[in-house]
Amino acid sequence: MNMNDIERALRQLRLSGIHATLETRLMQAQASQQPFLETFWAILQDFDWRFNPKLPRQACFELHTLKFIAEGGNALIIGKPGTGKSHVAKAVAYQATLQGYHVRYLEADAELARHALAAHDEEQRMLRECTEPDLLVLDDLFLARRISEASAELLQTIVHRRYKLRRSIVVTSNRVIQDWGKYLGDNTTATTILDRLMHHAAMLEFEGKSYRLKEAAARIARGTSHDA
Ligand SMILES: Nc1ncnc2c1ncn2[C@@H]1O[C@H](COP(=O)(O)OP(=O)(O)O)[C@@H](O)[C@H]1O
Ligand SMILES: [Mg+2]
Repeated sequence: MNMNDIERALRQLRLSGIHATLETRLMQAQASQQPFLETFWAILQDFDWRFNPKLPRQACFELHTLKFIAEGGNALIIGKPGTGKSHVAKAVAYQATLQGYHVRYLEADAELARHALAAHDEEQRMLRECTEPDLLVLDDLFLARRISEASAELLQTIVHRRYKLRRSIVVTSNRVIQDWGKYLGDNTTATTILDRLMHHAAMLEFEGKSYRLKEAAARIARGTSHDA
């Protein structure tokens, strides 16, 4: 394991925030001979809890303990765009990999659409890959609003299989669950999916302002139109 491996893993988990500050944190830790937990805490502090004071901070920390994985529970992180839902889901996923859990992260809509159209073998492989890990992260479900009937069926199968095996799923979505029937195209499918997802689940509501917009505004103020 070297820095390249770590950077690759962070990129795969799309934890660019942690990636960006990792070298600095590493140097700080080495210079001050900080214990690992303190270093890790500093990495987590990169998230500004004051920016959206209504975020369920305790529930995020609770997720970060990974107890829910040991218990086969789920987490639904629902709320406004840019409030840090994916950030928190990825931080939890990353922590799980550090603890030796087998984790799979998917950008939900795109991955479901791609595999719902795939040949039988390919679809079976995807199902296996979504069933086997200890933790599955389905990021940004219903980003594209309605998903196809085939995608909805695939999602239902994944949720059912993992439920039977008591394996955890973390879902993030901008869509309130009351509207899921609309995005799944069918209320019965929505009910069976939600029944299983919510049976042993933490519900985290992310209310607040978009950090993306804040960053974009800061860039405009600096006179640059894109990420530096
Ligand atoms: N409170 C915060 N403090 C620091 N960075 C944040 C905060 N909220 C969001 N971000 C950053 O803003 C960007 C968008 O957040 P993201 O988690 O993708 O939002 P969401 O998934 O809710 O749409 C990411 O780069 C994330 O790291
Ligand atoms: Mg997101």
